Amino acid sequence: MKIPSVKGTRDFYPPQMAVRNFIVDGWKAASIRNGFVEYDGPIFEYLQMYQIKSGDEIVEQLFNFEDRGGRLLAIRPEITPTLARMVNQQINALPRPIRWFSVPRLCRAERPQKGRLREFFQWNIDIIGVEDVLADAEVVYCSLDYLRSLGLSSKDVKAKISSRRLLAVILMNIGIAKDKLETLYPILDKKSKIPDETFVEMLQKEINSAQIIQTIVKLMDIHSVDNIPSMVDLNDDAQAALNELSQVFAYLEKMGVGDYCRFDMGIVRGLAYYTGMVFEVHDAVGQLRAICGGGRYDSLLSDFGGPKVTATGMGMGDCVLEILLRQKGLLTDESLKVQTLDYFIACTGAEFVDDAVALMARIRAAGLSCNYSYKTAALGKQMKQADSMNAAKCIIVGQELTQSNQLVVKDMKSGEQELVDADTFLR
Ligand code: HAM
Repeated sequence: MKIPSVKGTRDFYPPQMAVRNFIVDGWKAASIRNGFVEYDGPIFEYLQMYQIKSGDEIVEQLFNFEDRGGRLLAIRPEITPTLARMVNQQINALPRPIRWFSVPRLCRAERPQKGRLREFFQWNIDIIGVEDVLADAEVVYCSLDYLRSLGLSSKDVKAKISSRRLLAVILMNIGIAKDKLETLYPILDKKSKIPDETFVEMLQKEINSAQIIQTIVKLMDIHSVDNIPSMVDLNDDAQAALNELSQVFAYLEKMGVGDYCRFDMGIVRGLAYYTGMVFEVHDAVGQLRAICGGGRYDSLLSDFGGPKVTATGMGMGDCVLEILLRQKGLLTDESLKVQTLDYFIACTGAEFVDDAVALMARIRAAGLSCNYSYKTAALGKQMKQADSMNAAKCIIVGQELTQSNQLVVKDMKSGEQELVDADTFLR
């Protein structure tokens, strides 16, 4: 019986693994140059952890199960709750600010589609304990720094930035009750993914004023913070939230990535815990799902029983990123650093097998990579095998060994061959 792979999962054969490593290595390098240190947590947690504050969308997508002890558990769909739990556990011992990164493997029972799978890798960076919006700007900067290092320009990707705090005060200013906000956020977040009529219909179910709905629709189309004051009356709270967001843009300008960034009131984010700046990076054409998303979440640690400590961060998955890199021709063999071999040993006859095995062990013990053919096939065939393994050099073990105790060492690129003494080789 053949058992297929599970829907929404991927098998990483060596070529796919090379792509994954390329992406993950780049994430780690970007984290380190931006001053983050690595952490990780378990791949499953108590189910309740995701029910506290992640929001209905994530809860509906959980892979959850009961273990043999009757505990209700879930495979992690994100790492932010784990991070909050871990930081809370050692809150007094950890020097702040905390700047941590992680590359967890996550599972969400989403409907598999282009750029969204049921198992994926997600780069996370988070700054905990910094109230200044400079930390928000840094999180956006770090994600753009990575994308820019891959060769993606501001013509290829855009960071769409907004503020939950600003949105909340504006919505309340135009007549939305505070306790209605949480219901409205997921609808506003869907705006760019659904037809305009559907969006209005969804709003009509929650709001019974045509005028308020019309104002919301107009607000969702603003693309500069400067246009907000002309659209709505700003009270002190709204002005303060607007100033804060303008400061994020000012920092990003100073960091040299202003051309990647723009205001977009339609960015609300699906997760429930965001409290301040929120952002997503999208392909400029707007063809694909979000490349990454994040924002400020100042209440999550206290919601998890810890002290009130501010936090901001983002997550970037590997799926949309890979699609975009392929579209832009940025996943070349060269960038993928195809695995190479220092030496391949070709053996010209069964009588040389013992010498070849000893030589192979000596090369590996010297810290160099070495492989060989299990069969003493024709030399040409073995050379082809050496080529397919990207060997830099091929050692031919044959009659030269019996005649003069020498090995033939062939440079696979130039084709040049030299004879080296078998006893002194690598000694
Ligand atoms: P999120 O928006 O749920 O945020 O996910 C962030 C990114 O993870 C998405 O933009 C996408 O690249 C990737 N992603 C999400 N779901 C899938 C999926 N099913 N398949 C492939 N990729 C996916 C969070 O997870 C937050 N915890 C991020 C965060 C960290 N906020 C603050 N700190």
